[in-house]
Amino acid sequence: MKKTVLFLLAVAILSGCTTADKSVTKKTINKKETLAKMSLEDKAHFVIGTGMAGFSGNDAVIGATRNLVPGAAGTTYPLEALGLPAIVLADGPAGLRIDPIRRNDSITYYCTHFPIGTLLASTWNTQLIEEVGQAIGEEVKEYGVDVLLAPALNIMRNPLCGRNFEYYSEDPLVAGKTAAAYITGVQKNDVGTSIKHFAANNQETNRMNNDAHISQRALREIYLKGFEIAIKESKPWTVMTSYNYINGAYTSESKELVETILRDEWGYEGTVMTDWFGGKDGAIQMWAGNDMLQPGKVEQFDSIVAGVKSGKLAEADLDRNVARVLNLVEKSPRFQGYQFSNKPDLKAHAEVTRQSAAEGMVLMKNEKALPFAKNVKNVALYGNTSYDFIAGGTGSGNVNHAYVVSLLDGLKNGGYTVSEELKATYEAYADDCKKKTEEEIKAAAKNNPGNAMLLRFMPRPLPAEKLFTANELKKQAAASDIAVITLGRISGEFMDRSEKDFNLSDSERQLISQVCDVYHKAGKQVVVLLNIGGVIETASWKDLPDAILCAWQAGQEGGNSVVDVLSGKQTPSGKFTMTWPVKFTDAYSSKNFPIDQDPRIDMMNQGKKSSDVRNVDYTDYEEDIYVGYRYYDSFDVPVSYPFGYGLSYATFEYSNAKLAAQGEDFEVTVTVKNTSKSEGKEVVELYVAAPDSKAANKPAKELKAFAKTKLLKPGESETLTLHVKAADLASFDADASAWVVDEGEYQFLIGASAQDIKATLPAAVKAQKTKVNDVLKPQAPMILLRR
Ligand code: BGC
Repeated sequence: MKKTVLFLLAVAILSGCTTADKSVTKKTINKKETLAKMSLEDKAHFVIGTGMAGFSGNDAVIGATRNLVPGAAGTTYPLEALGLPAIVLADGPAGLRIDPIRRNDSITYYCTHFPIGTLLASTWNTQLIEEVGQAIGEEVKEYGVDVLLAPALNIMRNPLCGRNFEYYSEDPLVAGKTAAAYITGVQKNDVGTSIKHFAANNQETNRMNNDAHISQRALREIYLKGFEIAIKESKPWTVMTSYNYINGAYTSESKELVETILRDEWGYEGTVMTDWFGGKDGAIQMWAGNDMLQPGKVEQFDSIVAGVKSGKLAEADLDRNVARVLNLVEKSPRFQGYQFSNKPDLKAHAEVTRQSAAEGMVLMKNEKALPFAKNVKNVALYGNTSYDFIAGGTGSGNVNHAYVVSLLDGLKNGGYTVSEELKATYEAYADDCKKKTEEEIKAAAKNNPGNAMLLRFMPRPLPAEKLFTANELKKQAAASDIAVITLGRISGEFMDRSEKDFNLSDSERQLISQVCDVYHKAGKQVVVLLNIGGVIETASWKDLPDAILCAWQAGQEGGNSVVDVLSGKQTPSGKFTMTWPVKFTDAYSSKNFPIDQDPRIDMMNQGKKSSDVRNVDYTDYEEDIYVGYRYYDSFDVPVSYPFGYGLSYATFEYSNAKLAAQGEDFEVTVTVKNTSKSEGKEVVELYVAAPDSKAANKPAKELKAFAKTKLLKPGESETLTLHVKAADLASFDADASAWVVDEGEYQFLIGASAQDIKATLPAAVKAQKTKVNDVLKPQAPMILLRR
């Protein structure tokens, strides 16, 4: 080691500053020299990853990179002669997804299964989300991965999107802020993230071929906005383009999206990669500025090489992309020579997931049933998932966890007793159902071998709920203090949920009504727990139980987290980041969402268009900007639970709401007081209504800021400050290709939910106009919903 380095290290250690030692050890790549040494073939390899076996033409390379971290989704292409190692890319949003077991290796590589994205967003606590991100990032780094393929922040356009559990919200501000916090946390470990799927990947059906027809206004205000917020605030190392087309162009082949908007307008300086096997034409993807194609296909390699040779692709464009991949490699722990331990702090992370999961649970109803009264000791547990808790969704959003704490175990850990008889009944029932499902899946795979791969990835169907006779229920009610019924749902990549999955099944309905009937007659209460990844129907049955808690899919400590809430150890403070419609068809996008389509459409048609079926080949986003509460509020459509809704064991009083202009911007302050005997945190939402919003065809109101109090003790108050920039009040005017703030009196609404406004503050706003590029135009006129 050189003397100067030693000296700097000593200074760093002496001053207790760890960032200084990072900067002295950073290795750099001389990009100009490296590029000059690369042949055209080297460059084409370098920008398409190593592919999957047989794809990229060099099986020796694939074999070597595959073993770097088994189970990782891919790597970059190593060019050892130039000192460029392969760096490792692995999923995903709820924690690192790698293989837990390796051949001839006695060590295990389990990762922590953190709560799903939807739960994290429901905390509305960006500091906590950053802490979760930091814990995930530590596993990424210590297991030798360089880039985490997360977060996923597509807008929840419709309740049935199969990947909504990975996503954050129907609102771009919540989605963007949540993603920014997550990225900041992960990247604090000096590993990368990949914000995905850029953009408008709002359905799984035919996802590789679907053309999303979206107005320029809805794109700018809804579908791109969250990405814009997160990317500007947190600078993710990479961006992953989506599978779908937008207005006729694959996102990965759209220079307007990747260069004009992402880089020129938003100033993004990182690396862009495709989703796995996304897009078609390698040369066009390169031209568009999609720097890296994953996992890489031999056709893409050929298309890039041929493209340069024929002049279709300028070598300068390829060089630009190579340089950006070089930047990524240069930053990576692997290139920097980081010696990973394979020993992340799983114990500490179990505590992180337990705490964060409890904070994102949403108390939907509570008629003095929660927290459990002191005399509640013995709990009767109903519902299959009470015994087999669902930690998260399937596909690339899954995590290979070492265990999942069920509600049963959570209750036991919390000092409660459960009915052993019920437990034995459920376990026997589950065994039977599992056997039957396995047989059905085997038979389906045998009848149609083309299905076999798909079936492996698909969520396993959940069995019908077990029902009991009135006498059995009476006995169980007599032997217990309270009943808890868990309803479960599972979904994942490749497939949207069905309308049936949104509604309750007959057996679920019967279970709820029978248990409520018998227990209520016996003077005992019933709590319904939702172990789900996306919104379900609640309006028809929510009157029956005494309390409803949405536990989401809460990660591997799920049962413990739920019991922390049920027992009152932790007060729930989550609020919904999406609306719960009364009926599925109340969601305006249900008119143009592919409902109950065969999921195989996508798998069978990779690379070519499927039959010309509306909402499968293309989807008209006719609701335009009226997504979620923007629609329900503006068109007075009743909902079961509004956006931003969530109860607490505490009650809060809002007072002293004030608005002050700060130059062109605004600062709102409000005091929140805990008026109850329980401690608790409160989320405060700041909406803004534009002047004459109806005439101007704008939503009745839009969320512009939010904040959460600290844990307030009984009687304690906190004054929260929320900032809104005048520019954030703009709507997108497609005719003028500009963000336009209309002059006039705006109403700033401080709410506990979108439908519970506590204070209204008027503000005079001056006109503003910011021109942007006229890009991503629909190819044909669209008929759009207007107020
Ligand atoms: C998913 C991505 C994921 C990738 C790699 C794709 O099928 O859409 O979200 O990161 O696979 O596993």
